[in-house]
Amino acid sequence: MLSILKQSHSGSSSSLAMPRGLDFSQALSEIAGMGGGGGGDLQELRARPLTERRVDMHGFCNPGDFQRSPYLSARGNIANVFRGSTEEGYKAYHADKYDEDKNPNVSENPKLTQTDMNLMEPPLLQYPDWKGHMFLREEVARFLTYYCKAPAPLKAENVIVLNGCGSLFSALATVLCDPGEAVLIATPFYGGITQSVFLYGNVKLVYAYLDSKITGTSTRPFQLTVEKLEKALQDARAEGVTVRALILLNPQNPLGDIYSLSELRDYLEFAKRHELHVIVDEIYMLSVFDESATFHSVLGMDRLPDPQRTHVMWGISKDFAVSGIRFGTLYTENQDVANAVGSLCYFHGVCGPVQHKVAQLLRDRDWINQVYLRANHARLKAAHTYVTDELKTLGVPFLNRNAGFFVWIDFRKYLRTGTFEEEMLLWRRFLDNKVLLSCGKAFECSEPGWFRIIFADKTHRLQLGEYCFLFFSLPPEFLQHCFLLSLILDLSCYYPLIFSVFPPFLSIL
Ligand SMILES: Cc1ncc(COP(=O)(O)O)c(C=O)c1O
Repeated sequence: MLSILKQSHSGSSSSLAMPRGLDFSQALSEIAGMGGGGGGDLQELRARPLTERRVDMHGFCNPGDFQRSPYLSARGNIANVFRGSTEEGYKAYHADKYDEDKNPNVSENPKLTQTDMNLMEPPLLQYPDWKGHMFLREEVARFLTYYCKAPAPLKAENVIVLNGCGSLFSALATVLCDPGEAVLIATPFYGGITQSVFLYGNVKLVYAYLDSKITGTSTRPFQLTVEKLEKALQDARAEGVTVRALILLNPQNPLGDIYSLSELRDYLEFAKRHELHVIVDEIYMLSVFDESATFHSVLGMDRLPDPQRTHVMWGISKDFAVSGIRFGTLYTENQDVANAVGSLCYFHGVCGPVQHKVAQLLRDRDWINQVYLRANHARLKAAHTYVTDELKTLGVPFLNRNAGFFVWIDFRKYLRTGTFEEEMLLWRRFLDNKVLLSCGKAFECSEPGWFRIIFADKTHRLQLGEYCFLFFSLPPEFLQHCFLLSLILDLSCYYPLIFSVFPPFLSIL
């Protein structure tokens, strides 16, 4: 991000990009040679052969600063300069975190600090089965059977546990694809997948671009259709790229979409026709906060079109608000895949005492249903309603969805030239004013001007964020536009806060 901004500030039109269609050595010589030309607009980007396509948000460095390390391989050099899309924002967040009364720790799940959660017995301190301790795999199987509404009990031997879904993406990409092969994914998508799939395994990502237009078979903005998947797959094949798998995110990050049963069936049938594995990421499955919306897990389907090629992941980072614990799980009926991923778990294992903690957490169904999920859904719904009502008041368009922690908002009308460079400048402006949003490019969105706001926070903190957002971050023309609208906001509630919280205020929005 920094390099793009530096370049755009200095008037340079070329921005360095990680050429992900290339292999590590080629990518490295592009950087070293300052190949440039990586930014460009979408038309130009899409027109390029996949093998030359580069995308300029993830995995880039400032070419002026780049020094090839003699100690590292080509792969190591790429990892060394790779900057994840959110890294700079998170660094800024952690360096200057908002803290009301010395950090009351709103996001920590108190359940995990109970005494019955902690155990340090010898069996937990030895090397485990790399797929995870059986007590935990059994608990996960019961948990998924119940929450995914599986038609028959899921089996513990099909469960693998490891340190997060990010690691699971790396492990699956490695065992399903050879270097240079590809997985298909619809954009916009959670940007960490690039890091997991490309950086670790040198596996390419082939994009099915979704956009806001309602055309053809689309009936809603950013709708994933089989038609779009087919096109992306055929384009990749025409360029000689071997696609091995399809990634589905359900609920979707950043869109918040949840797929209907018939949509899910269509995607799985498409994958079966083309002998693609399907990696289904259901990490937000318990974060569907509106009763009117129904989430369908792939594990709840009566019949899977291709069970041996269907692999489902879930984790506790989101649904239990404990991303620091590092726990993710895979359910697959394919024992070859399970064993291969299990071997890689040597590098991605969960330590024994944490396995005990997680089993205790998942076991307490009464607490989860009666206490935790009720409170969590009510809070998510209230925060979502607050943020979306404010967006409506401000006339900012957004996708109104019922799952996840985020709203996908449309700032396109506030970009003068409608480019990703301008989108970055707006992102930077927010960050400089201590509001951390994620811009669309971080999710490989094909249209400049879309942003993701995280709304999962307390209302007064959202109000503070909104204040900084409106009155410090936005360009003057936006402010003029908002000026009258701002009268609608009850500013009196902000006055006491302005002086006490600014400048050290920083909230993730
Ligand atoms: C869709 C999705 N999958 C996976 C992850 C990573 O999960 P974990 O913390 O288990 O590595 C995230 C994190 O934001 C996500 O949004």
